[in-house]
Amino acid sequence: MARKWWQDKVVYQIYPRSFQDSNGDGIGDLPGIISRLDYLADLGVDALWLSPVCQSPQDDNGYDISDYQNIDPMFGTLDDMEQLIAEAKKRNIKIIMDLVLNHSSDEHRWFQEAKKSKDNPYHDYYVWRDGEEGVLPNDMKASFGGSAWEWVPELGQYYFHQFSVKQPDLNWENPKVRREIYDMILWWMDKGVGGFRLDVIDQIAKEPDKKITTNGPKLHEFLRELSKETFQKADLITVGETWGADPERAKRYSNPDGSEFSMVFQFEHVMLDQEEGKEKWDLSPLPFVELKKNFAKWQKELHGSGWNSLFWNNHDLPRIVSRWGNDKEYRVESAKMLATILHGMQGTPYIYQGEELGMTNVRFPDITHYRDIETLHMYEERLEAGYKKEDIMKSIYAKSRDNARTPMQWNDSTNAGFTTGTPWIEVNPNYTEINAENETKDPDSIYNYYKKLIKLRKANEIFTEGEFHLLLEEDSQIFAYTRTTETETMCVIANFTATPAPCRLIEKWNKTEKLIHNYNTENTDGILRPYEAIIYIDR
Ligand code: NOJ
Repeated sequence: MARKWWQDKVVYQIYPRSFQDSNGDGIGDLPGIISRLDYLADLGVDALWLSPVCQSPQDDNGYDISDYQNIDPMFGTLDDMEQLIAEAKKRNIKIIMDLVLNHSSDEHRWFQEAKKSKDNPYHDYYVWRDGEEGVLPNDMKASFGGSAWEWVPELGQYYFHQFSVKQPDLNWENPKVRREIYDMILWWMDKGVGGFRLDVIDQIAKEPDKKITTNGPKLHEFLRELSKETFQKADLITVGETWGADPERAKRYSNPDGSEFSMVFQFEHVMLDQEEGKEKWDLSPLPFVELKKNFAKWQKELHGSGWNSLFWNNHDLPRIVSRWGNDKEYRVESAKMLATILHGMQGTPYIYQGEELGMTNVRFPDITHYRDIETLHMYEERLEAGYKKEDIMKSIYAKSRDNARTPMQWNDSTNAGFTTGTPWIEVNPNYTEINAENETKDPDSIYNYYKKLIKLRKANEIFTEGEFHLLLEEDSQIFAYTRTTETETMCVIANFTATPAPCRLIEKWNKTEKLIHNYNTENTDGILRPYEAIIYIDR
């Protein structure tokens, strides 16, 4: 497979409202991001994926867009965006925008027009069904609670929304909608945007009458057209968010012929502790052996016929060091171990803001401190259903999206240096210890470990090209694998637990070159210390 220019790149995700505030309103903004570009350049990342910054009533923190061709004033202006693109370019960093194309905001001009009358030219931009008040077209549920159908009395019709009532689904069957979308994307491409992340893109080809949301029959037809009309004109880096992807589908999304996207986010490794028919809030143990086998499956399936995204975190997921690591005694060791395992694999690594510092989940005392629409809806729903408050809070501590959304921890001054005002969501109180200022100075920090991993990827082709092979498959503590090319073999070994783990691979591999190690002293006895991780290479 011919190598693509973006395959050895590393992407950093910014959640703009929580990254850096520049004007004291408590909300992160574009000038704030510009002021932190040197930090990001020093880390060594090649592209920044920005969660949505377009104009939005912020019902779902920007994933409800009311004008795709404007910046929300809370984040700045179009000029600021242009300046960000230019300043990032000077540092060899591309800007990846978040495209929310499955739905718009109900405050978008298209929807405002659409609900005026059935013959309005914009009416068919959305998905409507005739009906009677109180008699829903079917029992489909919306992701953030309640029915997926909302009644509009003036029209005698329901509109369809897979997310909140303020996020009406766009009608991709309508060629005019598709053309508007392509023109908007081309307009951003003209401004020098280097790529796009596509929000819930596997849900655009919905067929609500058949209760189909994800992977609708026309999905790939729509995606190929979208890609051809836009991204392919400039060989951009694109990544689709696809919760419904299996390897076969992922091979189509990330086909090396470039007919759809560069790569996809698939979520199987994230959902391993969610039992069939249960919700993410219903906690069950994390299955370690399954995690290894799952990664191995994806590595093997996409090698040579697709491309993986590698991620532990994003703005919707809990912090990885609190999930698979140990955010207390072994926070530093386990954060580095998790990075080692992920960055050693084939694919494009994504680092979510603060992950490079080992930022942790937050435990606010009660629901009044939480801001996320999904968390708030779930809290109400479960209270009504009779759940105990303390059990609901337990689920929130483990899974709430706000775990990822507390402000970036820059230093130990008030509000972690994020804002001089009142932050829109409180800072995690551990910022006095965990912050960028401490970590950039400390050669042994998680930050400097990430920096080294990124450099290694750039310096050693085997990270991009090597074929993956899982070792010690059934071992209940150790995650180990090799990556091989015709001339080299790399071996990644990690203890995923706080208990020492004897490992027969160490003796053999200790004779070869070590690329990175999260402990400062050699492993001489073949017993992996808590969360110990090493990458070796045999050249
Ligand atoms: C996925 C996004 O990542 C999430 O934050 C958002 O709520 C939904 N899509 C709806 O746009």
